Amino acid sequence: MIIGLLNQKGGVGKTTLSVNLAACLARTGARVLLIDADPQGSALDWAAARESEPLFSVVGLPRPTLHKEINQIGYGYDHIIIDGPARVTDLARSAIMAADFVLIPVQPSPYDIWAADEILKLIAEASVYKDNLKSAFVVNRKITNTAIGRDVIEALAAYPIPVLIATIAQRVIFAEAAAQGKAVYEIKEGPASVEIEAVAAELMEFVK
Ligand SMILES: Nc1ncnc2c1ncn2[C@@H]1O[C@H](COP(=O)(O)OP(=O)(O)O)[C@@H](O)[C@H]1O
Ligand SMILES: [Mg+2]
Repeated sequence: MIIGLLNQKGGVGKTTLSVNLAACLARTGARVLLIDADPQGSALDWAAARESEPLFSVVGLPRPTLHKEINQIGYGYDHIIIDGPARVTDLARSAIMAADFVLIPVQPSPYDIWAADEILKLIAEASVYKDNLKSAFVVNRKITNTAIGRDVIEALAAYPIPVLIATIAQRVIFAEAAAQGKAVYEIKEGPASVEIEAVAAELMEFVK
């Protein structure tokens, strides 16, 4: 499966979720490729910070032709994760065209909910060419037991695509792990790794 993590808004968790989902899938023995489609190259930076053995392959491909090259580049992999760019529309469009599933991280903030319009427009455009394209929101940096956490799910329900039941909480371990080029489960098996596993399981359920 090809999963694109997309949202033109920066700082929503595209890279954080990309590396952790890739690691989670690779952990089951699947061959996983992470494509860094963001010119900023954060996923490449993550891989470069790593001292231990790589968990999966990472390549940088911030090109608007990604959708044309994906079959060739992704040959032999079970799963491909695309870490999408912020802002650059032609790159985001190409990443959407390359994906089977577009996962849109959103933070529980009204700004993130309003900004989701943009990515939904691109998905609607791409759906004209790809009628089997699937997509969903995932709430990231949720602060547990707050009204805003519940409000965000309600607000997102107004959009025409589903919201994953699994959510990712605000946890400092995500930044700590990233600093060492590691997945959260490598630092500690705990709530963060359990949440990532739940997101991965729900995604796999969607594509069945
Ligand atoms: N669930 C989380 N808990 C705590 N920090 C997070 C979480 N998700 C992302 N971050 C932090 O937020 C910042 C932006 O995340 P990032 O994945 O780089 O977003 P994007 O790729 O969408 O720009 C990073 O510093 C990252 O460590
Ligand atoms: Mg990023």
